[in-house]
Amino acid sequence: MDLLTAATLFLVICLSCLTVLSTWQQMHRKSQMPPGPTPLPFIGNLLQVNTSDMYRSLIKIREKYGPVYTIHLGPRRVVVLCGYDAVKEALVDQAEEFSGRGVHATFDWLFQGYGVGFCTWERAKPLRRFSITTLRNFGMGKRSAEERILEETHFLLESLRATKSEPFDPTFVLSRSVSNIISSITFGNRFEYEDQEFLSMLRTMLETFEFASTSWGQLYDMFSGIMQHLPGPQDKTFKELLGLKEFITKKAKANKETLDPNNPRDFIDCFLVKMQQEKENPNSEFFLENLVYTTANIFFGGTETVSTTLRYGILLLLKYPEIEEKIHNEIERVIGLNRIPNMDDRPLMPYTDAVIHEIQRFGDMLPLSLARRVTCDTKFRGYTIPKGTEVIPVLGSVLRDPKHFGRPDVFDPQHFLDDNGQFKKNKAFMPFSVGKRYCFGEHLARMELFLILTSILQNFRLKSPIPPEDIDISPMLVGFATLPHFYEMCAIPL
Ligand code: HEM
Ligand SMILES: *[C@@H]1O[C@H](CO)[C@@H](O)[C@H](O)[C@H]1NC(C)=O
Repeated sequence: MDLLTAATLFLVICLSCLTVLSTWQQMHRKSQMPPGPTPLPFIGNLLQVNTSDMYRSLIKIREKYGPVYTIHLGPRRVVVLCGYDAVKEALVDQAEEFSGRGVHATFDWLFQGYGVGFCTWERAKPLRRFSITTLRNFGMGKRSAEERILEETHFLLESLRATKSEPFDPTFVLSRSVSNIISSITFGNRFEYEDQEFLSMLRTMLETFEFASTSWGQLYDMFSGIMQHLPGPQDKTFKELLGLKEFITKKAKANKETLDPNNPRDFIDCFLVKMQQEKENPNSEFFLENLVYTTANIFFGGTETVSTTLRYGILLLLKYPEIEEKIHNEIERVIGLNRIPNMDDRPLMPYTDAVIHEIQRFGDMLPLSLARRVTCDTKFRGYTIPKGTEVIPVLGSVLRDPKHFGRPDVFDPQHFLDDNGQFKKNKAFMPFSVGKRYCFGEHLARMELFLILTSILQNFRLKSPIPPEDIDISPMLVGFATLPHFYEMCAIPL
């Protein structure tokens, strides 16, 4: 290489570096994005966060940049919203703009943009409307959701009785009952508790929740572009998730062959009917992929969140027997021991209701919610957030907002009680999120939590094989979800 070529090459390299740098800077200035730590190319702000503890990392960055800031999770540029005010102003006051869905690579790998939960707002609109109506019809039709829950709870109580007061891990005891409630809606039937295919799907859902909450899962959400080509623990998760998809696809085929449009048996049947109705519409969102993945979203969403909340709740009651005692007293006073609980009991049981709210607040099931995305260039608090930018509403920071909860880090049912012991609403209670994409399983989930917990405590006293002071109520994992440590319990018949 002669001197001239070398010099030219050198110059070209310098110039392109400068161009890249200046457009990079311009992009940042012009977009008027919220402030945030300076990113490095490609890895973004990876050095500023601890992938084993994303929630706390994001809270720490807030201390420096305020409740609305920009962070780069690898190549993903994300606006983070902390505390009640910021989350409410965005998700409620500017609902339409903040209703897109962000990246969840662990799930997107399977869903590919189909299904109500992990799709664009355009696609979600008709799918949500259909899902909400269908869930409601299955809730109010011949068998109400309440009846379905109580029927399944009967089997749960039987399996608790079968433990004969011996210690057991409640994880799958709880999840198979919770899952059967949503199964009866999506698939038209419950599973036998020993059904191996069922148990393997329950394990899949738990393990996916776990994987997405580990450091690897969080890294995968940032760097899926490369990591999807490399081997890692995600391979096992993905293989298992495929099994879940195949199960639902099989179900859909079987339903199609025996479909009677006048007598839909379950959610899948209703979707098949809708597909027929919209056959002529080229823009219809009702086709097979959306059927399979919407059903998967509802089955998965309806299983893992509620059963993990119950598992955390029981652990908290084992830790605080005096709180359990007060619930027993309220059950005795309002329901007695001669009839099963129903939803009309809830307004008469403020203490129990407050404990369940506090379990959900403290349990903080999805601390970073599901990522959102702005659907257009969005003005927010004086910033301009370009169309397509991802948004993380940090629900955990709302559930622990010191402006709304007296002792945010303590498990204390008083957070939801007034001086007269009556139930006290709190607008910062939003474990189901808010706005256009809020969790439409909320109503069902809250009924399940109330009916299942009161039924258990009407029949059993909970006992821990280890002394309450040794019980660790801090989470085992905080990532996509908050997961309690595994534990054993005894159910002593009353
Ligand atoms: C304790 C129980 C539950 C909690 C804490 C919970 C929490 C959440 C949260 C935080 C979101 C994100 C919403 C958003 O982006 O604004 C969500 C979405 C969703 N949940 Fe739940 N959920 C629970 C139970 C359920 C149940 C029982 C079902 C099934 C009927 C369900 C189905 C869904 C679906 C399909 C979505 C996606 C909605 C969309 O993208 O438009 N969830 N859930
Ligand atoms: C990251 O968070 C985990 C879990 O809280 C903690 O054990 C670990 O020490 C943290 N690592 C660093 C480098 O701070």
